[in-house]
Amino acid sequence: MHSINSITANTQQFIDLEEKYGAHNYHPLPVVLNRGEGVFVWDVDGKRYYDFLSGYSAVNQGHCHPRIIEALTEQAKKLTLTSRAFHNNLLGEYEQYMSSYFGYDKVLPMNTGVEGGETAIKLARRWGYTIKGIEANQAKIVFAAGNFWGRTLAAISSSTDPSCYENFGPYMPGFELIAYNDLDALETALQDKNVAGFMFEPIQGEAGVVVPDEGYLTGVRNLCTQYKVLMIADEIQTGLARTGKMLACDHEDVRPDILILGKALSGGVLPVSAVLADNEIMMTIRPGEHGSTYGGNPLACAVAMVALQVIKDEHMMENAAEMGALLRSEIQALESPFIELVRGKGLLNAIVMKHPNPEAAWDLCLTLKENGLLAKPTHGDKIRFAPPLIINREQILDAVAIIGKSLATL
Ligand SMILES: Cc1ncc(COP(=O)(O)O)c(C=O)c1O
Repeated sequence: MHSINSITANTQQFIDLEEKYGAHNYHPLPVVLNRGEGVFVWDVDGKRYYDFLSGYSAVNQGHCHPRIIEALTEQAKKLTLTSRAFHNNLLGEYEQYMSSYFGYDKVLPMNTGVEGGETAIKLARRWGYTIKGIEANQAKIVFAAGNFWGRTLAAISSSTDPSCYENFGPYMPGFELIAYNDLDALETALQDKNVAGFMFEPIQGEAGVVVPDEGYLTGVRNLCTQYKVLMIADEIQTGLARTGKMLACDHEDVRPDILILGKALSGGVLPVSAVLADNEIMMTIRPGEHGSTYGGNPLACAVAMVALQVIKDEHMMENAAEMGALLRSEIQALESPFIELVRGKGLLNAIVMKHPNPEAAWDLCLTLKENGLLAKPTHGDKIRFAPPLIINREQILDAVAIIGKSLATL
């Protein structure tokens, strides 16, 4: 299968530079990109690709969305960072916008997704002590096996993936793991009076787009209410129209107590994350007890408001729902013997491969690249197909033709 991976000398020199001077903490596909527009990216040799990863769903609005880039560049000329030592003229406006967009009393702005997760856990612990009445330092947070919320020490402490946690211990205490999509296990865990929160993804993204049973989200909501435990939804990957609704929790009309957003909150132009909650939770943290230098910076505020606005203005939810259904049915219609399963919601999808070669998913991604489509395997045998939400019908059909042609070479 070596011929599938043709790399030009030009491309190779960029890769060599990274190899030599960068830490080897990633294993990228051998493609070097230097331009993006809408659903497409171009490599340094000028070859065009469909982007079927969308920066792990950070680029929902499409690459270099003109309105987002305009907001970025206009604000960059005026004021980029004040720190929270001073007020800035956009933070309040942004917070009001977020509050009414998602229906929560307050927002706590951070930068990366993993900081959003850390913030949510701190809020839940603080609420557990001051409102629920958990004894000092006894609070527990429950997570679901297969979760992924980043790479900090807290995040890896809740991970069930050895490549995330092995040889990075000791781990954060007070975390408990249960099976995903298992309401009985959740009920058993929540009976412990020291549990402050259950933090989970409404669809597990990095695990390979694991969609829970219908009714799971409602069940989680009911159990959390019954046992006075905070329902913490990590919608960093599933949120912002990706699954065909603004939030994946909207599929069951369920409202989490704490909502974590990131990634597409900036349309992929800078790290912007946010935690939303009502006053009872948010007001448990007082000045000086949490924050970050860049969180709530005016550049992020300007970008995030437009990034959210274009999702509504350009009907990205509706398009994700429609194009996602088309994508899944067209892939199924390929009837490839190498596809065991196609699953997903909206434009968050994955195929599970069935092939005697354990490297088949990687090889398929190399062939897809050759044929003009970029995707990345996760956990060996799964490939996520998650293009920007502005993709149209003709582009979906073109992309599926590329997928079909590539599968045929396996
Ligand atoms: C569901 C989920 N939560 C959190 C994160 C972490 O986000 P970041 O990489 O911006 O820290 C990710 C990243 O893939 C994610 O998929």
